[in-house]
Amino acid sequence: MESRPPPKRRTKRCLVLTVAAVLLLIVVLGVALGVALKRNSEPFKKTFIDRYSAELSMIFQIHCGKIWTAFEQAYVRKDPCKVPMEAYDPLMAAAPFKPACNRMMFWSKTKEVVHDFTAKKDCFLTLEDTLLGSVLDGLTWCGKEGSSDTFTAGCPGWTDCDNNTVRSFWNRVSAAFADAACGDATVMLNGSLATPFSPYSIFGSIEVKNFNSQRMKSLNVVLITQEKNVSNCSNASFKDLQKELDGGIKYNCKEVSEAQLQWCSSSPETPCGSCW
Ligand SMILES: *[C@@H]1O[C@H](CO)[C@@H](O)[C@H](O)[C@H]1NC(C)=O
Ligand SMILES: *[C@@H]1O[C@H](CO)[C@@H](O)[C@H](O)[C@H]1NC(C)=O
Ligand SMILES: *[C@@H]1O[C@H](CO)[C@@H](O)[C@H](O)[C@H]1NC(C)=O
Ligand SMILES: *[C@@H]1O[C@H](CO)[C@@H](O)[C@H](O)[C@H]1NC(C)=O
Ligand SMILES: *[C@@H]1O[C@H](CO)[C@@H](O)[C@H](O)[C@H]1NC(C)=O
Repeated sequence: MESRPPPKRRTKRCLVLTVAAVLLLIVVLGVALGVALKRNSEPFKKTFIDRYSAELSMIFQIHCGKIWTAFEQAYVRKDPCKVPMEAYDPLMAAAPFKPACNRMMFWSKTKEVVHDFTAKKDCFLTLEDTLLGSVLDGLTWCGKEGSSDTFTAGCPGWTDCDNNTVRSFWNRVSAAFADAACGDATVMLNGSLATPFSPYSIFGSIEVKNFNSQRMKSLNVVLITQEKNVSNCSNASFKDLQKELDGGIKYNCKEVSEAQLQWCSSSPETPCGSCW
């Protein structure tokens, strides 16, 4: 067992990262408090402080505690093309997703639109809105045989090999996020594509297969249409989707224009339920 960096270096890195995180939070908090004071909105201030102190303790744990250790063991000292998704099982055990019943939002080929929506409307939660997802979204990392370090350059890309560090991470956390889905779940799919449901996407190949009818009541497809509609809810690919769903999970599909979605997310009074 010599897979640990020397304790001194670990501690130093922890300290540096934590101090950086704290400084960043203080800056963000300062700006937000300024805004809150100007608006004189106490509830906003309280929510903000609650959320950020919870995040602060999570960030500390991620960098220095058991979550970091569980994350790192998945890929450190390994060939970055030989990291199967199971390597992240200990991470999922250390940082399980809290089910957010009726609020969980999935997506495929609609990343920007869906995140713009969930950022403005606080009623849905995507994987990238969870702490683990938001910390790692857009990042690249990997290990190397014979080294105890984490690298962020020279790592294989998403399609260079099947079992690469980053792809296996997203596959594994997507499976866990879908497994936690309960009540009514929603997925935003892209109506500008000829085949809006693809069995090869993460949604089609991982998430749909992990929905559990013991917890999940229904899947609501929101098919986002743009000026040029290519497909609609009658598209045959949705038959494939329904076949994949665990028996007992109800299925719905609704076409919603991107313009309507934007209108809804920019009108604070509109309840999320009536966006489609
Ligand atoms: C990737 O890992 C899985 C286990 O998760 C394994 O079944 C599969 O054969 C691996 N694929 C490649 C190309 O090594
Ligand atoms: C659907 O996919 C097309 C082509 O990839 C893209 O240009 C468009 O922005 C996507 N639509 C949405 C709503 O994300
Ligand atoms: C859906 O699109 C097909 C063409 O792809 C069209 O024939 C059909 O009428 C459309 N259905 C609805 C309900 O708009
Ligand atoms: C609908 O789905 C089928 C198969 O899933 C696909 O081949 C077809 O091109 C799709 N799109 C339209 C616009 O008909
Ligand atoms: C596209 O779809 C939307 C929603 O289903 C509909 O309101 C609109 O009329 C359609 N536009 C075209 C050009 O078919």
